Amino acid sequence: MTTPHPLLTAFENAGQGQVFAFFERLGPAGRAKLLEEAGEIDLEELERLHRTLGTGKGGSVDLGGLVPAPYELLPENGGDAAAWARARAAGEAALRAGRVAAFTVAGGQGTRLGYAGPKGTFPVTPVSGHPLFQVFAEKLRAAGARFGRPLHWFIMTSHQNHSATEQFFSEKGFFGLDRSRVHFFRQGRMPAVDFSGKILLEAPDAIALSPDGHGGSLRALSRSGALDLMASEGIDILSYFQVDNPLVRCVDPQFIGWHALRGSQMSSKMVPKAYAEERVGHFCVQRGHLVVVEYSDLPMELQRERDPSGRLRYIAGSIAIHLFDREFIRQMGSRGSGLPFHRADKKIPSIDAAGRLVKPDKPNGIKFEQFVFDALPSARNPVVIETRRSDDFSPVKNAEGNDSPKSCREDQLRQFARWLRAAGVPVGTDATGLPAISLEVSPLFACDEESFAESWARLTPKPRIAEGLCLAP
Ligand code: UTP
Repeated sequence: MTTPHPLLTAFENAGQGQVFAFFERLGPAGRAKLLEEAGEIDLEELERLHRTLGTGKGGSVDLGGLVPAPYELLPENGGDAAAWARARAAGEAALRAGRVAAFTVAGGQGTRLGYAGPKGTFPVTPVSGHPLFQVFAEKLRAAGARFGRPLHWFIMTSHQNHSATEQFFSEKGFFGLDRSRVHFFRQGRMPAVDFSGKILLEAPDAIALSPDGHGGSLRALSRSGALDLMASEGIDILSYFQVDNPLVRCVDPQFIGWHALRGSQMSSKMVPKAYAEERVGHFCVQRGHLVVVEYSDLPMELQRERDPSGRLRYIAGSIAIHLFDREFIRQMGSRGSGLPFHRADKKIPSIDAAGRLVKPDKPNGIKFEQFVFDALPSARNPVVIETRRSDDFSPVKNAEGNDSPKSCREDQLRQFARWLRAAGVPVGTDATGLPAISLEVSPLFACDEESFAESWARLTPKPRIAEGLCLAP
């Protein structure tokens, strides 16, 4: 008799022998695949997760000692204009010194949008239909040129979309970026388990694995060698943003400056919530630590609570834009000291004991995910700064309605119209600032009101403001 593969023994000993229930019947390729997937799983971690999160319905979130988080107000809302100016100068100096890299998390499954293909390839701009990745690439090219230091760009993909993402960049000539500065790496995966903690299979030779959440980015940055590369390039600040938000300022000097001047290990942008029930995470302080409490965990009476002036008390909404100190990521990404996992009960297609695929109509198991904002409580000197939503946030999440391709397109149009008007160019808009015509401004032409005014002033002859206007260098 041959000795079983050590992984089979380890899984058997951990009570997870069902993972190899069909092993004997698999061919060499199927066996190799299953062993490779099994090799990714940290059985001890999974056992711990099942013990702490897997029982009951996830438990209630500790809200003890919770108060709204302070944040740096924009000067127009009463913030200290001189401090913002100092922040901007410091951020620009950091960019000129090459201390900053960009980081996009693009490993999500984008189920709500329902678009086939990596979300970053989704056509998003209002006239040219340029994809999300191109918008970021052009913003980074513009920033590299402006500060005299081309930026490194890290892109986290998933197992599902990694090759398609790389291929897309290749086909598009990396959108004019120096390809040696664009780095793709895959995020980790976590197995789904049933309610008794048993790992589910999606096929006889395949474990039900899914991406480990955007918080998995911290361990993936560590594991992939990205942090070492940053260190060797003298980069100590990583600018984190999501793949679905074309409005984001990929590297924002003011934000970087606040982060650097405060010696912060992790900083975040907030927007005042648009209405009490808005579904965003809330920046709060709990027992001296900055935390983000999700809308689903913050009781509605707190979400609706107002201060004596009538303003929402829990007003600071998270828009998933952060800055990280490199060594803080290393610390948070290391085994044992990392982020907590969250439990999500899901309908997970999986095979039964007879090897038949069952598609459940109600949740039959648990997925585990990490959230990047859970790093905040561990960060030294975290800073939250206010930003204008219209300058930083309009994600494409849903196929229709809020945060959809339509709302995002309109927000881009409003921004371009605002820039034109600020430069003294008349553009007809409705009461919400939405122009009557479609137009587009390439990030290579301008990235904000100020750079727009400069580029516009240089432009001769001036184009006619008409349907389909595209301003690019
Ligand atoms: P979302 O929470 O919007 O999830 O991700 P999603 O998977 O993209 O979309 P749905 O929920 O299936 O519709 C926010 C950001 O975090 C990234 C996404 O790519 C997006 O940029 N993300 C999310 C990852 O990189 N990995 C993950 O495991 C989850």
